[in-house]
Order: sequence, then C-alpha cells, then structure tokens
Amino acid sequence: MASTWWKESIVYQIYPRSFQDTNGDGVGDLKGIIQRLDYLQYLGIDVIWICPVYDSPNDDNGYDIRDYHAILEEFGTMDDMLELIGEAKKYGIRIIMDLVANHTSDEHAWFAESRKSKDNPKRDWYIWKGGTGGGEPTNWESIFGGSAWELDETTGEYYLHCFSKKQPDLNWENPDVRQAVFDMMEWWADQGIAGFRVDAVTFIKKDQRFPQLGKEDNRPYAPLNEACLNQPGILDFLREMKEKVLMPREMMTVAEAPGVPIEQIPDYLDEETGVFNMIFQFDHVDIDIKPDARGVYHPWKLSEFKRTLTKWQLETAKYGWMALYLENHDHVRSVSKFGDDGKYRTESAKMLAAYYFMMRGTPFIYQGQEIGMTNCPIDSIDEYADIMSLNFYREETKLGRAEPEIMEYLAKRSRDHGRTPMQWDAGPAAGFTTGEPWLKVNPNFIHINVENSISDDQSVLQFYRQLIKLRRSNKALVYGDYEEIYAESDEIGGYSRTLGEERWTVLCNFTDRSIPIEGSYSDTIILSNSMEHERGILKPYEALISKYLLPHGGVK
Ligand code: GLC
Ligand code: CA
Repeated sequence: MASTWWKESIVYQIYPRSFQDTNGDGVGDLKGIIQRLDYLQYLGIDVIWICPVYDSPNDDNGYDIRDYHAILEEFGTMDDMLELIGEAKKYGIRIIMDLVANHTSDEHAWFAESRKSKDNPKRDWYIWKGGTGGGEPTNWESIFGGSAWELDETTGEYYLHCFSKKQPDLNWENPDVRQAVFDMMEWWADQGIAGFRVDAVTFIKKDQRFPQLGKEDNRPYAPLNEACLNQPGILDFLREMKEKVLMPREMMTVAEAPGVPIEQIPDYLDEETGVFNMIFQFDHVDIDIKPDARGVYHPWKLSEFKRTLTKWQLETAKYGWMALYLENHDHVRSVSKFGDDGKYRTESAKMLAAYYFMMRGTPFIYQGQEIGMTNCPIDSIDEYADIMSLNFYREETKLGRAEPEIMEYLAKRSRDHGRTPMQWDAGPAAGFTTGEPWLKVNPNFIHINVENSISDDQSVLQFYRQLIKLRRSNKALVYGDYEEIYAESDEIGGYSRTLGEERWTVLCNFTDRSIPIEGSYSDTIILSNSMEHERGILKPYEALISKYLLPHGGVK
C-alpha cells in the first residue's frame, strides 16, 4: 500500500470556541490558535483540523453555517484565517477544515430564498413537503430530538432538518446544490488548506419515498436513520465529489461516517475506488449506548470495546487506511469513560494513549486529551450549553422521565464534557480567557493544565510527545500489520504491529489491579508508562510497548 504524508501524520483537533481567547470576550478565536502554534509544534503534530469557524448564528456551535466564505466575527476575520494557514505552514503544519454540507443554517442566503415561495428558483435546494393529516410529512425524529420537520408559515410546507431546526438539510438530489458545494470546496482549497473533515456525510442521501418508520409505542417519533443514514445511491454523490474536487487536488479527507457497516469499507475507503482517505467510525465511542433505545446508558465490557476496534483494524487494512481517535467535540473525555479519572488519571490517560496511538491508522488527538482533561462536574441543566443536551433534557422531561435519570445520562454522554475550555495554566479561567468563559471551566484546571504538564516529566503530555516521536521514527508503527493479542481478556488490551523482521507489541492493563503477563513481554521494553516495570506483571493501568526482531525470513 502506498506511503503518503497523511498516513504518517498526527492530527490535532481544535474546537476553536474553547481553545484560546485573545480579546477577553470569553470565546476562543483564530488569533488564539496562531498564538498556540508554538505549543502544537512542541507537542509534535503535523495537521490541525479546525472545527467550523464560518459565519454562523451558532445554534449548533458553528455547524449551522450562514456563509461558507466568511469567518464568524467572534472568531476573527478572513485575514486571520489566511494568516493562520500561512503561519502554520512555517511550522510545517497543515490545516484541514470542517466541511458541513449536509445542511446549512436557516439563515443562509440559499435558505432565505428557498423559503420565500414554492416556485422560488432555490425552492428545490432544500427538502420541502406538505403535511399529512394535519401533521408532519413523516414521523421522523431529528437527531437532536423532536420532529425532523419544521412547518414554515410562509408557504405552509415543512422542511426537513436531520439535526436542529436551524439546520435545514440541503437537497443533494439537485445537481446545482452539489455543484455549489463543490465550488465552495475548491474555493477553500485555493486558500491553501490541505483537506477536509467531512461532517455528517452519511446523511446527505434521503430515501426518496419518504416512508413512515416503525416506532416504539411510547414515543411520538422514530429515529430517522432508517431513511436518512447511508442510503443506497449516496455513493453516486460522493464519487462525483471525489472526481470533481478531491482527486484533482489531492486533498486529504476524513469523513464522519456513522452508519457505514463494515462490509461497505471498500466503497468508502478503497485506495483506488473508495471515496475518502479515512473515516471516523463510531462503534467504540458509542459502546455505552444502544442505538434503538434513546438516551439509555448501556454497560459495556472491555472485550466488546476491543472487538470493535480490532474488527475495523483488520478490515480496513485490506483496502486502505483508518482514522484513530478516542475523543472529539461530540464525545466525553476518554480518561473518564474508558480509564479512571480519579486515583489513576495519569496512568490510565497514558495507557489509553498507547493503546489507540500505536494502531494502524492516522492518530487524531482532541484538544486537552494530551494533558488528560476529564469530564466536568455539572450539577444543573443551566450549566449545559450544548443544543443536543438541552433538547434531550426538554424532550425527555416532556415524556415523563425523572430528572435525576436525565442528568445522570448527561453526566456520562453530554458533548459539553469535551467542550469545556482548554486548561493552559492555574491562573484565572485556566489561562483560556481574561474574561468570562462561554462555558464552565473544569475546576480541576488548578492541577491539570498545560503549564504543569510541560514542567512535569511524568505528565500525560510528555508521554504523548514520546509516543509521537516513537511513531515518527518507526515505520512499523505506521505501516505494520496489526494482530490482536489477549483478545478474549476483559482486563488486558494488546496487539502487535509487524513490518518485515520488526515486531512491536503493545500491552495495556485496563484495570486498577496488577495482572500477570507472559514474562517475555518484559524483555525488550521501549516505552512504558510506569516508572518501574516489574517483570511479568502489568501494574494498574500500565502500558508496555516492546520491540522484537523476528528471525530472518520468519513471520512475514
Ligand atoms: C457532526 C458534528 C456535530 C454536529 C453535527 C451536525 O456530527 O461533529 O458536532 O452537531 O454533525 O452538523
Ligand atoms: Ca475571543
């Protein structure tokens, strides 16, 4: 399989609103990112993915775009954006942007036209339907809760929104819509960005029969996935995007692709015939929910978690490449979810880092993950800002669910846990802002912050830097074959990476107990998160990375 720069890269995801504020308005901005390029170089990353900074009324924190060719005032100006691209380049850092094209804001000029009249030239750019029997056209439930249809008084018809009602879905069936999106992508490519993280892309095709969906008796609506997620025909749209924009410009792509079953990997990822370079799959981060039961926490076992990752590792290896991640702006902090954010925070954050980072694919680090940031204690619904969490609270309350149960679920799943401001130092508002931060700062910033992490050579941050160096200087950790070890264990996660005569092993203890392992793993340790490894034993949350040379001509 071909070597490429993005396979050898490490990507850092920035949620600009929460990264670094420079003008005291409590909102992170583009100048803040420029200011922190030194830090990103110190960490050792190659690519930054910036979540949406386009002009937006911010109903869904920028994922509702009002103007694809303008920067939201709070974040800065187009000049700041171009300066960021140019400055990053001096550091050898590329920028990829979020491409949000399943929907726009309802304040986008296209939608303003579209809603004017049934015969407006842009009417068909969105999905409009008349009501049935006095109600919505179908019983589809938006991903953010409530009906996926919104009645628009002007024409008395409903428009479809898979997400919030301020995010009307574009009608990808219309070739003019597709062309407008492709033109916009090219415009951004011309500004010097290296590629796109393609938002919610598996939603762009809808079942054109607009069927009623089967639903549970006690709920008014049915999850819309069956009619809107990864529908037959979607690949025609994506292949057109690939041919017209992505291929000619050799853009790096990583697509957010929930709902793509493993059998469809070749369509999405095949190096020749697939549409994207990488995708984000959701099996491991959604291991704690059941898709058919809304808002119900589901206990999980380590072996299941590992199985999902191994399944994707093995299957993608046949065709192409994978995006590796544990966190992003839609998920809680990994150390709180998969590790121990109390006594063993440092150990378990490092262990998780070793576990996913050495797999086959391009690692993505989400801001704050590299210092082991944790979920934030939140006691009242008023402290949440995320539209998905707020809608969930409202809808579930309406359906009669008890408040403590709703709050307990949000404590485990709310997207705000990943969105609290970056913790830079122990000063006011964690060095994020001199003003009032837009979202609560996690009170543990006093000890968990970048400044402390730089001066402490045992910090999570230093371990990430070591992992990055290790991966950078060993091709086997990038291109080597993956094979799982301890597959059935509910305590240890492990695998090997083999390239030529070189074999690496990664063994991780996911528990707070010491677990015996085969002594041979202790022989040639290259990196461990434990100060003193004890032969044949994995201490609580210990991670061991070892390297062997196979006999010449040995295993492939
Ligand atoms: C993606 C984004 C998420 C957003 C949604 C709608 O899932 O990651 O933050 O709310 O798309 O655009
Ligand atoms: Ca600001």
